[in-house]
Amino acid sequence: MNGETRRLSRALRQHVESLRALGVAAVPATEPGHPATVRWRGGRRECRTPQANGPPSKEEQLASLAEAVAACRRCPLYQTRTHAVISDGSPRAELVFVGEAPGRDEDLQGVPFVGRAGQLLTKMIEAMGLKREQVYICNVLKDRPPGNRTPLPEEMEACLPFLEEQLRIVRPKVICALGSVAVKALLGPYVAITRVRGEVREYQGIPLVPTFHPAYLLRNPAAKKLAWEDLKKVKSLLQQ
Ligand code: URA
Repeated sequence: MNGETRRLSRALRQHVESLRALGVAAVPATEPGHPATVRWRGGRRECRTPQANGPPSKEEQLASLAEAVAACRRCPLYQTRTHAVISDGSPRAELVFVGEAPGRDEDLQGVPFVGRAGQLLTKMIEAMGLKREQVYICNVLKDRPPGNRTPLPEEMEACLPFLEEQLRIVRPKVICALGSVAVKALLGPYVAITRVRGEVREYQGIPLVPTFHPAYLLRNPAAKKLAWEDLKKVKSLLQQ
């Protein structure tokens, strides 16, 4: 097996494991143009018809993922949510921002990063010369933890397959992990933001830049200077 085959085989194995964790029991092969039927534990569900010629588009894959999130009962947070919050921005983005979990405003609107921290994130994106619609924004958890408490390890574990799927589908050029929870989810439970901030790490072969969460920057404006250094690093990775 050469390097590329090994990488593809690793990615395929991870994809199958993610699907299994999401409750998909079997995915039968379908002919182009036929509706795909995905069998979930406990029932069958029709997916959208794939593109007439070829595999489902990123948009179609993300729409299926959104359905799976809506049906998810893997942790109790679905009981207290108003909306599941999946993503904002472009599925074809070169840059993905990963935050922690929806807060109150996000839960009410069903869109990530729309509250005060979100407004700061939008300004950070614009300071990089980008528009919010050009990037893809998502969180580790898709449902709001009550009172905006820090996500529990078991909630992160339950929700992580969705984030892994989002990153596999979008496959951006660069990932920017916002704060401690995103860093732990993507780099490992013992990795501290204070230790890796300022470095360029990797997630599944994609450069990952850890930086402070915008909510932390609102509480500690002096740290904005360091965050700007990180965003400049992201910009230069995008230009490479
Ligand atoms: N904080 C997050 O981490 N994500 C959001 O969507 C909003 C605030």
